[in-house]
Amino acid sequence: MIRSIIVAISENNGIGKDNDLLWYLPSDMKFFRKTTLGHCVITGRKNYESIPEKYRPLAKRTNIIVTRNANYKADGAVVKNSLEEALEFAKSENESEVFIIGGGQIYKEAMGKNVIDKMYITHVAKNYDADTFFPEIELSNWNIEGRFALESESFTAEVRVYEKK
Ligand SMILES: NC(=O)c1ccc[n+]([C@@H]2O[C@H](COP(=O)([O-])OP(=O)(O)OC[C@H]3O[C@@H](n4cnc5c(N)ncnc54)[C@H](OP(=O)(O)O)[C@@H]3O)[C@@H](O)[C@H]2O)c1
Repeated sequence: MIRSIIVAISENNGIGKDNDLLWYLPSDMKFFRKTTLGHCVITGRKNYESIPEKYRPLAKRTNIIVTRNANYKADGAVVKNSLEEALEFAKSENESEVFIIGGGQIYKEAMGKNVIDKMYITHVAKNYDADTFFPEIELSNWNIEGRFALESESFTAEVRVYEKK
């Protein structure tokens, strides 16, 4: 099972503020949907609750929520009490590629524990006032497997797909 991260990052490494995204980027949302469709997605409890109710659980994906709350329930989603348990569950579903979809705490844990094989990063070429950040990454440990610009009127953004060396 390939363990992937998918994230959009500003130039100053920001990913969110006030439990919301920093931008409205439909082309990136489309890319996110297309890439994750049919797969297990692992989300921190806060990120999950930041998704507008009508869009959660994310359709046509197995949503796995990570929380320390043993009693947490969310209709149509799987709840696990650690990142490891969430990854194990995805594996038990015979998943070929699992996507960690945020937020900051879950990305930090996944990167810190060195469990990620692949990263789909949308680099947004602008600084943002943020309160949640993606951890610093040592890019020399990663090969760029593909890159393309996102079409957008108000943003310059490039998707780069990184694979662990
Ligand atoms: N730019 C992007 O691509 C992107 C993507 C996703 C999210 N975001 C942004 O990121 C922000 C949310 O991130 P966040 O860091 O505040 O929260 P988060 O990572 O989404 O969720 C944090 C929660 O996850 C649970 N958790 C964390 N570590 C755990 C562990 N080791 N074991 C069990 N449960 C654990 C805890 O839930 P409990 O408190 O319930 O125990 C914790 O409060 C929002 O602003 C969102 O918009 C941005």
